[in-house]
Amino acid sequence: MNFPKKLIREGRVKLFIPDPDHFRDSSGHFDPAYLPVFYNSRMVFCRDVSILAIQAFQKLKNHEISICDPLTATGVRGLRYAAEVDGVKNIVINDKNPVAVQLAIENLKMNKLNSKIHVECMDARLLFYLYALSKRRFDVIDLDPFGSPAPFIEAAIYGLKDGGMLCLTATDMAVLCGLYPKVCLRRYGSIPLRVAFCYELAIRIVAGYLAKKAAGLDFSIKILLSHGTDHYIRIYSMLERNSSKANYTLKNLGYIYYCSNCGYRQLTCSFLPQSHEKCPYCNSKLLIGGPLWCKEIVDKDFAEAMFNLLWEKKLDNLPILSHFLEIILGEADGPPTFYVIDKLTSRLKVSPPPINQFIDRLKSLGFFASRTHFHPKGVRTNAPINKIYDVLSSKKIQ
Ligand SMILES: C[S@@+](CC[C@H](N)C(=O)[O-])C[C@H]1O[C@@H](n2cnc3c(N)ncnc32)[C@H](O)[C@@H]1O
Ligand SMILES: [Zn+2]
Repeated sequence: MNFPKKLIREGRVKLFIPDPDHFRDSSGHFDPAYLPVFYNSRMVFCRDVSILAIQAFQKLKNHEISICDPLTATGVRGLRYAAEVDGVKNIVINDKNPVAVQLAIENLKMNKLNSKIHVECMDARLLFYLYALSKRRFDVIDLDPFGSPAPFIEAAIYGLKDGGMLCLTATDMAVLCGLYPKVCLRRYGSIPLRVAFCYELAIRIVAGYLAKKAAGLDFSIKILLSHGTDHYIRIYSMLERNSSKANYTLKNLGYIYYCSNCGYRQLTCSFLPQSHEKCPYCNSKLLIGGPLWCKEIVDKDFAEAMFNLLWEKKLDNLPILSHFLEIILGEADGPPTFYVIDKLTSRLKVSPPPINQFIDRLKSLGFFASRTHFHPKGVRTNAPINKIYDVLSSKKIQ
């Protein structure tokens, strides 16, 4: 490993990472992709959330669990799960890049975690098939790839125990948010939309893809938690081998119909798209996106269990995590999709009201209304679009 390294601390582990100062481009710019072994400090929050989710899952299962971190890079996820999650029996970390594996081994020795962690160096998909063949399937698999998790999902399902949890990250946001619709169609079999709430649609597209792959192998999926943060989305789901439940899972797929003129949208569960052609409010032609997951993207009980672990886990990001989970819990019972108020007020040519005042007004009219973790100016509500415009233009909140 002939590159300069830097010693850092993340959570309860120490880590050698490639020294970022030695991997800048000629203009001094740094990107984690320039490193010989990937490490992104912007993902610490994501890994903190993973600690809470895996711990909540372990408590739910009420037995010791096995975890696979198949795209490990520096080993950070596997190491943190070994050091910070209780009730872990064993962890397998893997990377196809031998340089990454060498660094991960160095890191695991430094943290004296050799007894709990086993290291492999192969294609992640091969690892899933080999472990399935030798009946060493995992309770938890954490897919954290460059870009899209799609190439790994089917093999990961083979590697997962019945009732296991699949955690996945997607960072191909330009594709999922509609900049390259043909790539999205090819990769996920779904048409994306370029809308202000596209991170939520991205979760729904990837979850829909996972549901279809799982159903093909007789598994149902239940989404435990999902979030869209920074430059990525993350989904935690539980898979159960049950063909009748798998049939039911497919009923959770549908399409979104969206009016780019007034912001009207409707998400409908149906296997085939329906002929909603015109917006019922302004008569414009509707855009259609999907197929995608049209049901809950957060299980409130699971999110609550994560919230209850916050103080026990003593994570560095505690105030941010607590705020984040509070917002997630507040929006968990809400309808799909949210509105970004600035977009609506600019259509009306009025100035945006304080967000909490707007939410209170909608609630006082008997509607569901909450903030959303997806956007600082986002509001999740079941109020119809004409009612939302009425409230925004009324003197009461101006
Ligand atoms: C985004 S990085 C993982 C980051 C890491 N999980 C973390 O939290 O810092 C993706 C890693 O997957 C590895 N990789 C890519 N394709 C792979 C494959 N088919 N099998 C195994 N490893 C692979 C890369 O070498 C890279 O180290
Ligand atoms: Zn319309």
